[in-house]
Amino acid sequence: MYMEEYTFVSLVTELPAGSMRTYSVRGRQIALANVDGNFFAVDDICTHEHCSLGSDGALDGNVVICGCHGAQYDVMTGEVLAPPAPRSVSSYETKVEDGKVMVKIP
Ligand code: FES
Repeated sequence: MYMEEYTFVSLVTELPAGSMRTYSVRGRQIALANVDGNFFAVDDICTHEHCSLGSDGALDGNVVICGCHGAQYDVMTGEVLAPPAPRSVSSYETKVEDGKVMVKIP
């Protein structure tokens, strides 16, 4: 049977507003971003040449700029906004419970 569940990723206090980090979650590499107190999760790996968005990218509002060649993605949706990335990245639902950020991984 196919099941989805939320997995603990980070304490709210570990990821201040305007920051982004890479986490390993149930075998996936996820980039978690705090945009003005709201948390968004996308696949961490840039679709261009596989740089880590959470570790090497820069977050500007809801846009992450890849640190390698400047591709841009909307962290709220995973949509690619600027080349050279050829494709969007997956995004994941998040929720906050008791000061913990949880991400729903399929
Ligand atoms: S690896 Fe991200 S823009 Fe090239």
